[in-house]
Amino acid sequence: MSRIDLQVNGKKFTVDVDGSTPLLWVLRDHLDLTGTKYGCGVASCGACTVHIDGVAMRSCILPVSQIKDKDITTIEGLSEDGSHPVQQAWLEHDVPQCGYCQAGQIMTAAALLKANSDPDDKEISEAMDGNLCRCGTYLRIHAAVKTAAKNL
Ligand code: FES
Ligand code: FES
Repeated sequence: MSRIDLQVNGKKFTVDVDGSTPLLWVLRDHLDLTGTKYGCGVASCGACTVHIDGVAMRSCILPVSQIKDKDITTIEGLSEDGSHPVQQAWLEHDVPQCGYCQAGQIMTAAALLKANSDPDDKEISEAMDGNLCRCGTYLRIHAAVKTAAKNL
């Protein structure tokens, strides 16, 4: 076990964990940030997506010791009140069905729009490709990303 300092959603935390513990479990089990979901555990579904220094990454395969000096943002920190343009577009398009994948989808979309504020259809499809949705909300996700880009 080691003491690891983290910065999550603008706040500083110290956790006592094995450094190889994936960030996902530190967020969920130590910091009670359960908006980030476990889907596959092998970087194949996107449910666990968070931002590390503004870039979308899979928290299920990130050893916490590797990210101690980085700025971590989870779905809880994307905005305080759900006012982020991506969250608003998700509401406008009524995107979620069961909702399980949606935190990851929103975090991937937000990172895309941060890097590219006017993505075309191909760029949206490529960016969102690794985020799976068992409920098949893909068309609404695509439309919501376009709306969010317009509203940025
Ligand atoms: S749980 Fe991390 S990509 Fe599926
Ligand atoms: S909304 Fe159900 S898995 Fe995506």
